[in-house]
Amino acid sequence: MSSKLDVVLGLQWGDEGKGKIVDALAARYPAVARFQGGPNAGHSLHFEGKSFVVRSIPSGIFRDGSVNIIGSGVVLDPVTFKEECASVSAMGIEPKGRIVISKKAHLILPTHKLLDAAYEAAAGKGKIGSTLKGIGPTYTDKVGRHGLRVGDILSPDFKGRFAKLKERHHRLLDDLGFEYDPTHGEAEWMDAVEFLKEFELVDCEYLVDKWLASGKPILAEGAQGSMLDVDFGSYPFVTSSSTTVGGVCTGLGLAPSKVGKVFGIFKAYCTRVGSGPFPTELFDETGEELRRIGHEYGAVTGRPRRCGWLDLVALKYTSMIDGVTDLIMMKSDCLDDFDTIKICTSYKVNGVETDQVPFDIAAEIEPVYTEFPGWKKDITGARSESELPKEFMDYVKFVEDYIGVPVSVISVGPDREATIKR
Ligand code: IMO
Ligand code: MG
Repeated sequence: MSSKLDVVLGLQWGDEGKGKIVDALAARYPAVARFQGGPNAGHSLHFEGKSFVVRSIPSGIFRDGSVNIIGSGVVLDPVTFKEECASVSAMGIEPKGRIVISKKAHLILPTHKLLDAAYEAAAGKGKIGSTLKGIGPTYTDKVGRHGLRVGDILSPDFKGRFAKLKERHHRLLDDLGFEYDPTHGEAEWMDAVEFLKEFELVDCEYLVDKWLASGKPILAEGAQGSMLDVDFGSYPFVTSSSTTVGGVCTGLGLAPSKVGKVFGIFKAYCTRVGSGPFPTELFDETGEELRRIGHEYGAVTGRPRRCGWLDLVALKYTSMIDGVTDLIMMKSDCLDDFDTIKICTSYKVNGVETDQVPFDIAAEIEPVYTEFPGWKKDITGARSESELPKEFMDYVKFVEDYIGVPVSVISVGPDREATIKR
């Protein structure tokens, strides 16, 4: 009997804890696939007293036997990938044979990163707050039909095509008045391209189809969050890929009917790194407290994350777009110490109350909150629902009722074991 492809998606602005959940779920799936994004992602895993951050490699890499697919919708920086592989090898896991890469994934060139920096420098106040990993410029070239793909590295005129694209980028950089070294990063990049050739380069759509047809389920791992989706996020303060469920189909070459469960991950509060609207952002001590307790600093850039209360208007919006079947609540323990906890249940947009995310990102949004008494107990040791305080379960129940989807997993700490399935 054929299997389905289940999906893990971040429902907020990224950094929801996708890595931990993919690692936890991966034991049940023979393959894990990334379908969009690139090394702007930083997925943190903690197990056996060790910590690890994956960027382009799927988070299934630390589960014995699982094959990890880098799908067609991904943008791959060979240099970062090679570095990541070295770190994985240092953990005693051989990445070759465990990772396959779609020939259709696009390559991030060193000049894409320069362009990212040049556009941000030119943007002034309109800065996106990009991770500067070359994501936007690489997707721009993909859609503009100038891009280089992983499969192209095997072509005899690869170096010529590289040179042509690089020159195009140099012209753009010159136009922007950006100073750069014309050979910046090239030798290292070419070296890393040779390293890529040691991996199996695949036609991902055929591979995925064959696996599912033979009864092997696949888990797709989203990067970033649905509120950063290029179409449905707070444009232009978004990333350049489809982070919502549709991106799974376009990024892997998969029919929608083959998508099974959609696990939607959210933190028990909210964070955002980079610019753009964030209605529940806290600028006071409570926000600082959340940042301190949750260690809310970017895994890729080290930037402090903006912190705020849980926003159910945004969560319901993304759960709707993604067709979430199961909610997964992360970092619940980070709220242990608060006397009062707030949840945003509607917005006042330019003074008018609504439960919808507005189109206008410049609109003044005032969050309307419902308050909950804190549970004031350390829940990190809990391993079953019966060990969780009533006040905490009331909070969970409120979220479930508002969204209309069950919370099937509750995470109470960073470790693999601190995960309660319901
Ligand atoms: P994971 O997968 C949080 C944000 C950046 C910036 C915007 C655009 O770890 O959840 P980009 O580099 O894509 O051009 O940046 O998106 N951003 C993320 N924020 N988590 C991420 O990934 C992110 N990847 C990009 O901060 O605001
Ligand atoms: Mg992250």
